[in-house]
Amino acid sequence: MTTMGLFSKDIKSMNDLFEHQLRDIYYAENQIVKALPKMIEKASNTELRNGFSEHLEQTKNHVTRLEQIFEMQDLTPEGVDCPAIDGIIEETDEISGEVDDKRVLDAALIAAAQAVEHYEIARYGTLIAWARELGRTDCVSPLEKTLEEEKATDEKLSSLAETNVNLKAAE
Ligand SMILES: [Fe+2]
Ligand SMILES: [Fe+2]
Repeated sequence: MTTMGLFSKDIKSMNDLFEHQLRDIYYAENQIVKALPKMIEKASNTELRNGFSEHLEQTKNHVTRLEQIFEMQDLTPEGVDCPAIDGIIEETDEISGEVDDKRVLDAALIAAAQAVEHYEIARYGTLIAWARELGRTDCVSPLEKTLEEEKATDEKLSSLAETNVNLKAAE
């Protein structure tokens, strides 16, 4: 992982900014691949565990898709530190360490997972808009595929929370 911008301004153009953002989300997706197995372990609700497992497989695919994009763009697949995703994951670890009741923990895990999904949705939305603007159109459809999966996951988490997990947590 490389750190940019410490001694010189490395982002000189919109194209540089696009590439930086790609590396940022690449780092983030890799961190999510590492974080999800811990979330699966902590979750008690079967549907939630299954949902997390399914999204882990999708997330591995997001990493591969990004690697294909790097390749198409003649870029080395390399991440840059993304303090935002590190913060969301750190907060997840912290809060889940403090929740005693398993059902409340499930509600907390959904909230954390949705923060991750919303982060991804924001990033992919921006990347798609920039790819279009910059004429890097071959990136658009793989980025859109991932964005759709993030949105679908977010919606599934909302409905699982509202129809099941929150009810049990609030009992
Ligand atoms: Fe993802
Ligand atoms: Fe995701």
